Amino acid sequence: MAKRLISLTVNGKAVQREVADRTLLIHFLREDLRLTGAHIGCDTTHCGACTVDMNGKSVKSCTMFAVQAEGAQIRTIEGMAQADGTLHPLQESFRQEHGLQCGFCTPGMIMRGYRLLQENPDPTDEQIRMGLSGNLCRCTGYQNIVKAVRHAAEKMQIKEAAE
Ligand code: FES
Ligand code: FES
Repeated sequence: MAKRLISLTVNGKAVQREVADRTLLIHFLREDLRLTGAHIGCDTTHCGACTVDMNGKSVKSCTMFAVQAEGAQIRTIEGMAQADGTLHPLQESFRQEHGLQCGFCTPGMIMRGYRLLQENPDPTDEQIRMGLSGNLCRCTGYQNIVKAVRHAAEKMQIKEAAE
């Protein structure tokens, strides 16, 4: 099996590993780096449970090979809270607004929500729904997920205004 050495940055840390050409990014993250927050729900680009942030875009990590991440900056759910454990406003808001039940979709929802709010810090509910349309949840009915993202947007704006 052909292998290649890849170098990338994951959650702010430089990583260098040898990977097989056909290793998917999600398997690299979960098995090689032991970052098991991103989940595998479908393995076919449908559910979004495997979403991570790569070079300023949301990426379904089951849909690309690890070797394609050469030189990339990746952020996963493990990189969202601060070093002292303070949750990111999105994580806090999912908790406060009951944006999760089983939690399986939650890392992907939060990572997608993160990019959505980077691109549009004050989205309408419709824009939140559109922005999350590539992420599926089998539990919540989506109402509280939308509320959680809206709440996080408000929190982040208040925080920014105070800085
Ligand atoms: S596991 Fe990647 S989209 Fe479902
Ligand atoms: S909370 Fe269970 S799949 Fe979304």
